[in-house]
Amino acid sequence: MNARNGARPGRRYAHVIGWGSYAPSQVLTNADLERMVDTSDEWIVSRTGIRERRVAAAHETTASMAAVASLRAIRTAGVEPTDIDVILLATLTPDYWMPSTAALVKEAIGNTKAAAMDVAAACSGFVYAYATAQAYITSGMATNVLVIGAETLTRFLDYSDRNTCILFGDGAGAVVLGASEKPGGGLGIELTTEPEGAYMIWLPAGGAKRPPSLESVARGEHYVRMEGKETYRFATRTLASTALTAVEHAGLNASDIDLFIPHQANIRIIEAVAKGLSLPMERMFVNLDKYGNTSAASVPIALAEAVNQGRVAVGDRIVIVAFGAGFTSGAVAIEWTADPARGRAGEAAVQPEDVHVRLPVDWDSVDPIPEALAAVLGRPVAPGVEVPLDDVVPGEPEHASRKTEVGV
Ligand code: ACO
Repeated sequence: MNARNGARPGRRYAHVIGWGSYAPSQVLTNADLERMVDTSDEWIVSRTGIRERRVAAAHETTASMAAVASLRAIRTAGVEPTDIDVILLATLTPDYWMPSTAALVKEAIGNTKAAAMDVAAACSGFVYAYATAQAYITSGMATNVLVIGAETLTRFLDYSDRNTCILFGDGAGAVVLGASEKPGGGLGIELTTEPEGAYMIWLPAGGAKRPPSLESVARGEHYVRMEGKETYRFATRTLASTALTAVEHAGLNASDIDLFIPHQANIRIIEAVAKGLSLPMERMFVNLDKYGNTSAASVPIALAEAVNQGRVAVGDRIVIVAFGAGFTSGAVAIEWTADPARGRAGEAAVQPEDVHVRLPVDWDSVDPIPEALAAVLGRPVAPGVEVPLDDVVPGEPEHASRKTEVGV
């Protein structure tokens, strides 16, 4: 699927007017991983470029991290939460199968009117959601769309599998796209899906094909599985071509792009993209050394950091590009029009402890952190806590008046 966005009279454009991110404070270093699996800092850095990643605290969730990033993006945009009319949240680690994590975020940010839904396209999810937001705005169906990428991947990793557990981390990023009659914003889009790679990165159990059971848990089928080499081959083959196609749809050449903001999976993949596009690494934004691969959160976290670090100026052309399970890939060429200085103020205006996601009353009785991870992070593993089962029946009126709020 692709879209061209040439300037035409009467046409609506979708500009990035706000951006924000949130990374949890707990850090998991390569040295920590050396204590868990047979690996080394040297191997991880030379094969991936990753030095550390973040781990959500027990009281944090995909929705809570998404809400912080979203409110930062909304403050940066200078709009009110109630001005948002669509919320799209890309994730492969939703808080629940239902409701959507986007619905929880809608309540947490104090929005009353938005349609809210999740987008499932793995690491390409944010780019897919961005493209969807662009379509809502340019078609006239929406004026302000909140686009979020948020993940709590550390709860879906097998910390005895060195092939996967070294790669991933937690976090959230968001942008607000706003309608305008002035040209700018998304100029060209390319989205692809190659289902022959469907089982190269997957999470086998928990869905309708293999509902969760004692057996599926015993087999570790609730953890991410990955064929690293095949995924690497797909990424290096696809990322540059997807980016280039989006650039061509914008009527530009790769050399016209001031900064590429690629999915932060592996430094060698990003170097291959630069080589494929005949561009120096200075045109590639990289922050995977600090966060690892945060899947759908990776591009919006990188975008917010790039802008806040002064790497993007008004009038610059940037490209966001990602690949992921599915095999999916997506890219958007964007003309930047917002004052980059607004981002730092927006970030400072929203602290995680100010944001609350309403949770079921039994929340504290479940420790979501994998035992091996909790041990290495120095957290005591929570002892078995009795779950007050009569308190977890949803929809009972008295529960609504006994809201349990947990700060993030
Ligand atoms: N520490 C030490 N050794 C390791 C580790 C580790 N953490 N992991 C693998 N090895 C070993 C292997 O067992 C192998 O040993 P052997 O030669 O004795 O068999 C050796 O290192 C080489 O392994 P390779 O798999 O060939 O290593 P490679 O250079 O391909 O790097 C990696 C592996 C980093 C996973 C790479 O293939 C990669 O980045 N692939 C893409 C992964 C990715 O981006 N996934 C995210 C997709 S996005 C989404 O939607 C979730």
